[in-house]
Parts: sequence; structure tokens; C-alpha cells
Amino acid sequence: MSDDATAPGEGARGRLVELEVGAVAHGGHCVARLEGRVVFVRHTLPGERVVARLTEAADGAGFWRADAVEVLEASPDRVAPACPVAGPGGCGGCDWQHVDLAAQRRLKADVLREQMHRLAGLDVDARVEEVPVPAAAGTTPEDAARGLGWRTRVAYAVDAGGRLGFRAHREHRVVPVERCPIATPGVVDLGLPAVRWPGWRSVEAVVPGTGDDALVVAEPRPGARRPPRVPDVPAATSVATTSPRGPRQPPGPVSRVRGRTWVREEVRGSGFRVTGAGFWQVHPGAGEALTAAVLEALAPRPGEAALDLYSGAGLLTRALATAVGERGRVTAVEGDARAVADARRNLHDVAGLTLVHGPVERVLEERAGLEADGEPRADVVVLDPPRTGARARVVAAVAALRPRAVAYVACDPAALARDVATFADHGYVLRGLRAFDLFPQTHHLESVALLEPR
Ligand SMILES: C[S@@+](CC[C@H](N)C(=O)[O-])C[C@H]1O[C@@H](n2cnc3c(N)ncnc32)[C@H](O)[C@@H]1O
Repeated sequence: MSDDATAPGEGARGRLVELEVGAVAHGGHCVARLEGRVVFVRHTLPGERVVARLTEAADGAGFWRADAVEVLEASPDRVAPACPVAGPGGCGGCDWQHVDLAAQRRLKADVLREQMHRLAGLDVDARVEEVPVPAAAGTTPEDAARGLGWRTRVAYAVDAGGRLGFRAHREHRVVPVERCPIATPGVVDLGLPAVRWPGWRSVEAVVPGTGDDALVVAEPRPGARRPPRVPDVPAATSVATTSPRGPRQPPGPVSRVRGRTWVREEVRGSGFRVTGAGFWQVHPGAGEALTAAVLEALAPRPGEAALDLYSGAGLLTRALATAVGERGRVTAVEGDARAVADARRNLHDVAGLTLVHGPVERVLEERAGLEADGEPRADVVVLDPPRTGARARVVAAVAALRPRAVAYVACDPAALARDVATFADHGYVLRGLRAFDLFPQTHHLESVALLEPR
């Protein structure tokens, strides 16, 4: 086929090739083979025959990447995307808009199984469960059934002309959007993309799952001497700004422009204040689903000592505290100072709580806040790390406490599988695994693993 788009030094980039598409792989793509090389292909499905454009194809690379641009033989699981910018070269946010929702969940379960097999040497029976969108989010039943209208937090990038959009896959280019179909009606109704945001780098819409008033958090472009003007947003919406940050840095301090710098979330009748840009799950049913899964896995008993690692604003800390009761004790460890301050307010009524601010890896090694009668003690542990996982040092320190059960909440199945393998080296085995579709239309999934001593 034609290779006229290839520029010198770019290998075969731009070339159109015909591919027989094989299994799904972690990351929102499928595997194909071309001239003895693996090609990761987006916008396709297992079993399809497609024409694909090579998007990364350096001569010496171990694998190439491609976008399917024409479907020659379609999978029965293929559907029309709900989003006009979901295709090749478009928004990099959703990977599976072209896939039937039930089939998306099967693909995610395949990925979880494959990662557990390859990285942890375990054959697991994985299924990805649907998580209902609570009525308070205002999503229509039709949208909910299609995996749309669920996202309560949407971070837009801003292009050079001040238009809001999302980054293209593996590119800095911003694809402007008018309306994101996976966002809740509350986010869409803010109408943020309808106006220009010159001078800003990112704009985040936060509309709590409770349907409470929204917060907009805007980050200026680096180098601005003072924050640019905030365009008009609906009257009841709070507005805050945050300072520019690097790609892997935590969000900077939040400054109030109008209203509050935080939103109020609610799970199981408990309120949680979450300061702008601080961590909270983006699916409004996530709090309930993960709380239930963690409690089911650990079955904490009254009087036990519980340890909540990467505790954020205190969602799972609250559940553990309720379960172990007044005779029990809970230690929560969190690295983001604002999340710790939120947790302190959210859990002010909890007796026997120790909140520790610091990196989990260091706190565990220093055993700060873990002592009971002179001995470090944790009967049950929750681990809910960021995408990179807990990693060997933290896993070793958790295992050294000899808890009777560990619930590991994971947003990346590869990191989970690697950490499960490390736990096995320390005598802890996988006794349970559930997975939840907290991110419909994307390749992401959330898992809750139960680990117990062998
Ligand atoms: C996936 S969130 C979980 C939050 C909380 N468990 C919840 O359910 O809302 C991960 C949390 O870990 C925190 N974090 C990231 N790296 C950390 C580290 N090395 N030490 C302590 N906390 C960290 C983040 O600030 C974030 O609050």
C-alpha cells in the first residue's frame, strides 16, 4: 500500500497497511503483526481486518503503533461512537467509544486476566462489574445504559487560542471539544467550552456526585506574571485557581476566586470535603462500590487495628473506622497536605484515629503512628496507591506488619499484578479479585484484590 506520507528519519510513520487484528492488550489497543513486528493498533477490535495508518514506526523500534482508519471486516461488537472526536487523530481520552459497552467490559476482563497471568503467574477468573450511576448525578437512563454521562470531574486542556479540549493520544496537541459525552449533565451544563480561556493551561470542572454546587479550578500557563481573567461561569459555581505544575507534580496551592475552594461529596450518609484538584474518584458510584468491596474483602472486626495507606480525603478510612468501632484503631497515611487537611475535617468525630502526613514508603519504614503498646500493629490494611502502584518497598513493609488481610485497590492492572507477585515473595497470596467499570468508554478499570498470608 502507499507509503507516500513517510518523511525521512520517521521510519514507516504515515504508511497505510492492512492488518489482521489479534487480542486486546493493556492500554486501549489490540495486537497485530506486520513484517515480524508487533503493532499496537487503536480504534479496532480483536478479529477485525483493517487498514491502519502507522503512527509510531521507527526503524529500530521493537514495536510499532497504528490507528485503524478503515474497517474491512468489522467485529460484531463494533458500534457507532457517541462522540464526534473519538476517532483516529481525535481526542485521546476514550479508547473504546467504538465498542459495545458489554464488550468493553469483556475486553477489560481479558486485560486483567492477561496481566495477572503474565506479571504475577496467576490464572484468575476476572469479570468487570457494572457500577450504577446514582440518580443525583442527573444522567438519563439511556445515557447510563450506554456508559455515557458518568464523569463528575473533567480536566480540559486549553489550546493556543484559548479553546477547551483534550489532548490527542500520545500528543500535546489539544483537540477542541464542545461537549464531552462521558461527562455528567452537571459538567456539561457549566458550558465551559463555550467561552475562550486565553492565558490558562488547564481548566477542571468538578461537579460532586451529590448534585451540589460545582467548582471550577483553573491553572494559568507557566510564566504568567499574574493570573489571567476568569471568563464568566454560571452564578452558583465556585471558582479557584491553582499554580502551574510539572507533569508529575502534585497540584499546587488552591486560591479562592469566588465561592469555595472545595466541593462536598457524600458516601453512605457521610460527607467528605474535597479541596479543588485533590483526589476523588471521578465516577459518582465509585465511593459506594469501592467501600463495599473493601469491607467485603477485609471483613474488619470490632477492636481491630486498621491501616489505610494512600488515604486521600478519608473515604475508606471512614469505612474502616466504622467497622472497627470505638475499641479499634485506624491509622491513615497520605502524602498530599491538602488531602490530609480535608481528612482531618472529614473524620473529626472518629475516635482512635491517627492521620499521618507523608510518603507511605517513609512512614512505613519509620513506623510512625503504627505503634500500639510499643509494637507496630495492623490487623487489616487498605492499599490504594496511584497508577504506579505501591511497589516493592511498600509491599515488603506492609507484609512485615503481618496483617491478617490486605485489600489492594488498583487503577492499573499491570501495577497490581507486579505488586501481587511481590506480595507472593513475602508470603501473601491472592484470595479474591473483583473489578469495576468505573471508566466506561476508556480502557481503564478499577480492581480490588484481597491478599492473605499463605
Ligand atoms: C488513588 S488515590 C486514593 C485516595 C483514597 N483512598 C480514596 O479512595 O479517595 C491515591 C492517593 O495517594 C496519594 N499519594 C500518592 N503518592 C503517595 C505517596 N508516595 N505517599 C502517600 N500518599 C501518596 C495521593 O495524594 C492520593 O490521595
